Amino acid sequence: MCGIVGYTGKAEALSPVLEGLRRLEYRGYDSAGIALVVKAGEPLWIEKRAGKLGNLEEILGDTVPASHSGIGHTRWATHGGPTDTNAHPHLDNEGKLALIHNGIIENYVELRAELEKRGHIFKSETDTESVVHLLSDARKSHNGDLAAAMRDVCGQLRGSFTLLAIHADEPGRIVGARRNSPLVVGVGDGEMFLASDVAAFIAHTKRALELGQDEVVDITGDSVVVTDLSGKVLPLKEYEISWDASAAERGGYPHFMLKEICEQPKAIADTLIGRLSGLDPAITEGIDLAGISKVVIIACGTAYHAGLVGKYAIEKWANIPVDVELASEYRYREPSVDANTLIIPISQSGETMDTLMAMRYARSHGARVFSVCNTNGSTIPRESDAVLYTHAGPEIAVASTKAFTAQLIAMYLLGLHLGRVRGTISAELAKEIEVHLAELPSKVEQVLETVEPLRALTRKFKDASSMLFLGRHVGFPTALEGALKLKELAYMHAEGFAGGELKHGPIALIDQGTPVVAIMPAEGSLLAEKMASNIQEVKARGAIIIAIADAPLASADHLVRIPTTHEFLQPVLSVVPLQVIAYEMAIARGNDVDQPRNLAKSVTVE
Ligand code: M6R
Repeated sequence: MCGIVGYTGKAEALSPVLEGLRRLEYRGYDSAGIALVVKAGEPLWIEKRAGKLGNLEEILGDTVPASHSGIGHTRWATHGGPTDTNAHPHLDNEGKLALIHNGIIENYVELRAELEKRGHIFKSETDTESVVHLLSDARKSHNGDLAAAMRDVCGQLRGSFTLLAIHADEPGRIVGARRNSPLVVGVGDGEMFLASDVAAFIAHTKRALELGQDEVVDITGDSVVVTDLSGKVLPLKEYEISWDASAAERGGYPHFMLKEICEQPKAIADTLIGRLSGLDPAITEGIDLAGISKVVIIACGTAYHAGLVGKYAIEKWANIPVDVELASEYRYREPSVDANTLIIPISQSGETMDTLMAMRYARSHGARVFSVCNTNGSTIPRESDAVLYTHAGPEIAVASTKAFTAQLIAMYLLGLHLGRVRGTISAELAKEIEVHLAELPSKVEQVLETVEPLRALTRKFKDASSMLFLGRHVGFPTALEGALKLKELAYMHAEGFAGGELKHGPIALIDQGTPVVAIMPAEGSLLAEKMASNIQEVKARGAIIIAIADAPLASADHLVRIPTTHEFLQPVLSVVPLQVIAYEMAIARGNDVDQPRNLAKSVTVE
C-alpha cells in the first residue's frame, strides 16, 4: 500500500527514482510524485500528479534540474481522495522539507489541530501532512539535525508508517523511519537506495539491509547509519537478494499476471526443491513442535484460501485440529490462544498489516509462530519463530497467482512434516504424496498447454452479470479463490460455494444462462458423485456448466480437463484454469489486468 523510493549517489536521481516507482507501482496507483534536492540554498524541485505514474511522467519533460538525491511516492489513497494536492510528497510551510509516507497516522487529527494553532498552514486532506509540519518544527529544535528530528517525531506518532524525508539545504541526505510498514536499504557502489520493496533497486544492487521496528535510517551516497528512537546506533543487518532483476520484468508477456500464471511450474518446483526427502528437521527449524495441541492459520485474501486447503491436509495427515482465521477478524474477537497453539501466518508480501497484527496478538499470548512467506527479510518472517519460505519469486501483478500455488505447496509440505513428526501418517502414504508433489510442475505445465480454448470461451460470458464457482472438499477453497480472482479482475459479481451448500439458499441465484464453474473432485471418489448431483441441480435451473475435471463429464457444457493427482493436491491444478478465466475476463471487459481498480498489492494498513 503506497510505494516509496529514495535515491542518493553518483547518478542523476530522477532516473533511479522513476525506475523504482515503476517497479513499485503495483503497491498503489492513485497518484505519483517526486521531490529532488537540487543544490544547497535552492528550493526543492517537486512534481506530483493524480492517477498512474504515466500521468506524472508525461509532464516531466526536459526541465528537471540536475540532482543526486530525491524521493518518490506512488499512492494508494487512505486519507483524502486521489488528487494532485493529496499526492505525496508533502512540504512544510517554507517548502524546504519534503516527506513521503506509507501507512496511517492514527493521531493525525489532534496533531493537525495543534500544528494549526502553532501557525502551520495545511494544503491537503492527508494524515501525512501533519508529519511534515511536525518534522519541520522538530528539525528546528534539533538544530537542523533531520535524523534527530525524525526520531523525535516518530515518538509522537501513533499508527503505522514508513517515512522518507529530504531537506533543500542537505543535498545527498535522506532520512527514513519505519513502524509496522516496510522499508529496506539497498547498498550500491557509491549510491544508496531506500524503498518499500527490493524490486525498486534490484537492477542496481543485490545488497540489502533490514530495518527493524521503530528504527531510523540516515543515508548519503556512501554512508548508512541506523539508530533506534533513543538515538542508539544499531548494527547493520545485511543480506543478499536472491531474486534476479529479470524476475521483476514482464519479459515479453503483455501482463505480469500472465507471466506469473505461466511461471507456476517453476514456482512450485523451486518451493519443493530440497524438501522432498523424507523427514527433514530443517523444515521447522527454530520451533519446538512438542506439545502443540492446535494449529491456527491466519491470513487474508488469496493466502487465506491457501490456508483453507492447508486445513484439509494438515488435519488429515497430522491429525491435529486446525482453525483458519481471517486475520482481520482474529485479534478483535480476542480468541483463546496459548503456548500449545501453533500459529501459521501465510503471506506473500510478509507485510500485510492484518496478518501481522493477528500474529502479534497470538505471540503476545504465548503462541509459537511458524510463518509461510514469499518475501525474504519482510516483517512477518522476521517476527516469527521459524519460517518456511515459498520460492515463487517476485509477484508484481496485484492478483496473486504463483504465490498462491507456492503457498499450497508449503501447506502440503507442512502437513507431511507434522504428520511425520507426530507419527500420524504412514511412511507409504507420505512417500506417495511426495511422488505426486514432485509431478506437479509438469502437470501444471500440461494444464497451461491446454487452457487456450478457455480464453475464447470466457469471452462469451463477458456480459454475464454474475458467475458462480462450486467445489467440494479442497475444491471448495479453490472455488472461493476462483471467485475472488474474478471479482478483483473483472469487477463482476462472483461467488464460491460448497457444492452441498447450494440448496440451502444460493441456488436461488441461478437463472437461465448463469455461468457456473464446477470444480470436480477426483474421478471415482464419493464426492465426485455428490458433485455430479449438485451440477444437475443447477443445470436443471438453467445454469451453463464449465467443469474443471480430471475425467469426462457428460453434464458439462464445457469441459477443461486437468491431469489426475492425489485428491488433496488437486487445487494446484484446478486453480490454473480459474486464473486464466479471470485474466481473460479482465481483458474482455477492458480492465487493467495488473493494476485493478481500488486495489494495491501489499495491504499495509488495517
Ligand atoms: O501479501 P499477502 O499474501 O499477505 O496478501 C494477502 C492478500 O491481500 C492477497 O492475497 C490479495 O487477496 C490478493 N490480491 C488476491 O489476488
